Amino acid sequence: MSSVDSPRESWATRLGFIFAAVGSAVGLGNVWRFPFQVGQEGGGAFLLIYLLFIVLVGFPAMLVEFVAGRYTERNPVGALKQLGTGLWEYVGWIFVVTGFVILSYYSVVAGWTIRYAVLGLQDGYLADVEAAEAQFGSLAVGLEAIVLHALFMAVVVTVVAFGVERGIELAVKVLVPAIIVIAVGMAIYAFTLEGAGEAYVYYLAPDLEVLADDWRSIVPAAAGQAFFTLSLGMGVMLTYASYLQEDRNLATDGAIIIGFDTAIAFIVGLIVFPVLFTAGVDPAAPGPGAIFVSLAAAFGDLTLGWLVGAVFFATVAVAALSSAISLLEVLVSYLIDERGIGRVPATVALGGGLFVLGIPSALDLVLLDLFDGFADQILLVLGGLLLSVLVGWRRSDLAITELELGIGDLGPYGDAWIWAVRIPVIAALLVALTLGVLGYIEFLQDDFWPWIQEL
Ligand code: TRP
Repeated sequence: MSSVDSPRESWATRLGFIFAAVGSAVGLGNVWRFPFQVGQEGGGAFLLIYLLFIVLVGFPAMLVEFVAGRYTERNPVGALKQLGTGLWEYVGWIFVVTGFVILSYYSVVAGWTIRYAVLGLQDGYLADVEAAEAQFGSLAVGLEAIVLHALFMAVVVTVVAFGVERGIELAVKVLVPAIIVIAVGMAIYAFTLEGAGEAYVYYLAPDLEVLADDWRSIVPAAAGQAFFTLSLGMGVMLTYASYLQEDRNLATDGAIIIGFDTAIAFIVGLIVFPVLFTAGVDPAAPGPGAIFVSLAAAFGDLTLGWLVGAVFFATVAVAALSSAISLLEVLVSYLIDERGIGRVPATVALGGGLFVLGIPSALDLVLLDLFDGFADQILLVLGGLLLSVLVGWRRSDLAITELELGIGDLGPYGDAWIWAVRIPVIAALLVALTLGVLGYIEFLQDDFWPWIQEL
């Protein structure tokens, strides 16, 4: 065990932790990734499995990260070294790799949101969905996408290098309500569209036939999306809990974070699908462009839509910023704590590496899929699985005691939580991981290999 001499940072205000955790969770995962996953995985069937994963797996898994972080007061690599012996020491490494991969393409997508904010102010949005689709195709990849990716990465690096995350607390207080207000307003507009009824059926009524036919891809996609959107599986929540000094009620905090995160994703779905159905577009067709195509078209259709749209996309870009900061912060805290590298050089070096790794994703959507699928369906689920095994089976003694701090005697609920982690959570993650690996191999064969041959 290494000891850290300088006093560790801790949250400035009582609510700092919860604001930062919500700021990390709410991001492109809710606004960009969720609707396109729903569209690709067949609508309500995906929504149902996703919600089950959020509540039955995401919530217990979040508590696992919280107790591991608050107990060890370490970065993820250090925390795992302290909690486990032997091979467990290397699990933290998976977290670092995962964060690196995710942040590389996350920044590219964040660049798209900046582009779309500017688009509203400059030219306005195209009301025609097909035209909007073509426009997305030309804006999403190429030099401009690379430049905006660089710009976004530079902002993330600057914030993390100077350690000015305190500003994030403030930003989150404004952002999360702003996203909710605009999204609810847009959902009301979407409700008035002609295709709304059909869209609600697609989105909200799980089609059991779709589930029976496609569960092999729905399950890993839902598991991966649940971990992605809740910032689980790579030590972000662990790190944030490690800065906690007071004994907060982690169960309530977890429920609040999950509540906000899920509500925002759900509302975005209520906008995207009515727009796509009204235009007669197959909801799977726009893929990663789903929100850019459908929301842009909706904004294009509204009076002052250019302004509301610009505000919306700018807000999403800032929400992406607070999530990206959380990802980079974990990588940086690892280099500082475990490798003794200074904050500024660590941040700048990582930022440079992330920029380079993100370039392929800004050149072709297949490559973005290559990174996203790997990180999401394999690495995040693997990280969550391993942490659940370690805490649930090997360190359950300390886990319950730690969770009880700030809550009081959990009685049977403590055991219920540990047993939920030990059997159903681990089993669900094992199934999701197996299917995720198989699905990824299929992707490599069916999409990636042909893509390479075409080069
Ligand atoms: N949850 C964020 C979002 O939905 C992304 C994110 C931040 C993340 N930190 C993470 C995803 C850690 C996985 C792991 O946009």
